[in-house]
Amino acid sequence: MSELSELYEAIARCQKCALARTRTHTVPGEGPEGAKIMFIGEAPGFHEDKQGRPFVGAAGQFLEQLLASINMRRDQVVIANVIKCRPPGNREPLPDEIEACRPFLDRQLEIIKPKVIITLGRFSMARFFPDASISRIHGQPAKRDGYVVIPMFHPAAALHQPRYRSLIEEDFRKIPAILAELDRVADEQPPAQPEQLSLF
Ligand code: URA
Repeated sequence: MSELSELYEAIARCQKCALARTRTHTVPGEGPEGAKIMFIGEAPGFHEDKQGRPFVGAAGQFLEQLLASINMRRDQVVIANVIKCRPPGNREPLPDEIEACRPFLDRQLEIIKPKVIITLGRFSMARFFPDASISRIHGQPAKRDGYVVIPMFHPAAALHQPRYRSLIEEDFRKIPAILAELDRVADEQPPAQPEQLSLF
């Protein structure tokens, strides 16, 4: 069994917080181990809890449209969440729930080793930029914990608020250039000079 499947089985057995008592399914995430991009959302909602899959409701459809706008499909990326079980009534995740789930997200990152992490919304942004304001830093790649992380608005917020919608659409359009720049730097001989990392 792959390391990722082992991790997802451990998540399915998890009883570390009260969400274990109200969930239908755990929602560990999905996507190939070698994916270059990993999206991290907030928490499973109603449909995700029923199906055990992330971003399958309205926000997920919008995420798929955003991916299509840069010629990508969801099966080419990893999609996960900060917490792996649905908070009742879709309330925001509580600090102790985020803390209990954190080792799972850390391990997921360690196994997948994405080139780029895209945080969706403020809870996943806070994992890498604890005191930042999303309005100030969205769409700007930064190196955090050895990853290039791009904070973006949550697609659910963007669906309901037109001003966020155009911002997330604009931020998505930057992804291909960022990936190309990372490939260019990785191919660089001799090893990259500081100025070659100008994007970050
Ligand atoms: N919103 C999230 O943050 N994650 C999901 O999986 C679905 C909706």
